[in-house]
Amino acid sequence: MTNIFVIKKKINSFNKKIGKLSGDKSLSIRWILLASLANGKSKSFNLLNSEDVIASIHAIKKLGIKVKLKKNFCEIYGKGLDGFKYKKNMVLDAKNSGTLGRLILGLLVNSNKKIKIVGDKSLSKRDFKRVADPLKKFGAKLKLTNNKHLPLDILGTKNLKPIKYHENMGSAQCKSSIIFAGLRTKGTTIIKAKKSRDHTELLCKYLKLPINLLKKKNYDLIKIKKAKKINPFNYRIPSDISSASFFIVLTSLTENSCLTVRNVSVNPSRIGIIIILKKMGVKIVLKNRRLYKGELIADIFIKSSKNLKSINCPIKLNSSSIDEFLLIFLVAAKARGISYFKNLSELNQKESPRLKWGSKILNLMGVKNVTTNNSIKIFGNPDLDIKKKIIIKNYLKDHRIFMSSAIAALTFGGEWHIHNKDSIKTSFPDFLKVLKNIQK
Ligand code: S3P
Repeated sequence: MTNIFVIKKKINSFNKKIGKLSGDKSLSIRWILLASLANGKSKSFNLLNSEDVIASIHAIKKLGIKVKLKKNFCEIYGKGLDGFKYKKNMVLDAKNSGTLGRLILGLLVNSNKKIKIVGDKSLSKRDFKRVADPLKKFGAKLKLTNNKHLPLDILGTKNLKPIKYHENMGSAQCKSSIIFAGLRTKGTTIIKAKKSRDHTELLCKYLKLPINLLKKKNYDLIKIKKAKKINPFNYRIPSDISSASFFIVLTSLTENSCLTVRNVSVNPSRIGIIIILKKMGVKIVLKNRRLYKGELIADIFIKSSKNLKSINCPIKLNSSSIDEFLLIFLVAAKARGISYFKNLSELNQKESPRLKWGSKILNLMGVKNVTTNNSIKIFGNPDLDIKKKIIIKNYLKDHRIFMSSAIAALTFGGEWHIHNKDSIKTSFPDFLKVLKNIQK
């Protein structure tokens, strides 16, 4: 089967409902890691069935934790906070997952053997110094390749010291790794963290772990103490807003179309795309809002708009839409006027340098843009109608580049040949199936 996905035709108007989308990736991985430390059996439903999540399950299995993964549920038989079995020359493969690679380090700070963490080509290009530095302060030993990258070796200590840390990149992965290490450390660990997704904090609170969260206007103050035990917990993972976003933007850019996506995680630290698109003129309504184990969930209703407006995007929305910018750039490409997105250097730290790729895709589409290392100006064209052939390849198999390109092809026209279809397995294996149902 070819791994190139060809799209030659725009999508027709639609009015659809998506009852269930795959589970949120951030929550799936956090549930696995925390359940592995609980005392007894935890069960989840709608766990995302993707390569990042499977890699997380493999990692805890290697650490001696029993996992039962079935079609409709997953059970993890945690052995308590000190239940991991460390073997000599152990290697854990985080594959493509920054979340797994970084968060698991926080759990390994008290290991009694050296563990090697490896990843795929894309992950091996990403910055691990950002987590290694704070974890070293706890007393763990970390040795990185070229001082920054995977493969890395970690050797923990029983003698962990609490730290005070200023997390100033807005990286939830970095913050979460420190929180996990703090849960293993006597004394109070204090993090002053630039705003980023807060799933780890909310889960810890729900589990009644010793965490104190103070939300200030521009940063969060998080205090963590050593946990005594984690009770097993069941969790129904809500749908992933980042996966829903492909269809939110598909709807926004397709004339006379409506879509409802049910049961989506709409945690305020994740819904930047909704705020941005509303400012650009898309009609989006969150219906049936409810709290589930500390997380906000809703049904999202979207209606396309004939008049999309450009935006000077407030930087305070960057972190809550960090995984959605490739899609937001497509909306800017069709909006009237010049859109401006700034302070976005973190985008180049993702599975591929996404700011560069956003610009490259726009160039291929014939959309004028001025891009620097941390900003992009997009000159929107409401009449854009692509007639040429566009080939998307050599992008480090970044799943979000594949899926965003598919959305561009279906809404702007042209003949697109998008390589590495398999990349969707990382975060959203059902992407093409859901797309087909919308096209029916
Ligand atoms: C994630 C945090 C973000 C995000 C990633 C998932 C998480 O990364 O881009 O897809 O689950 O904590 P950073 O923490 O590097 O910003």
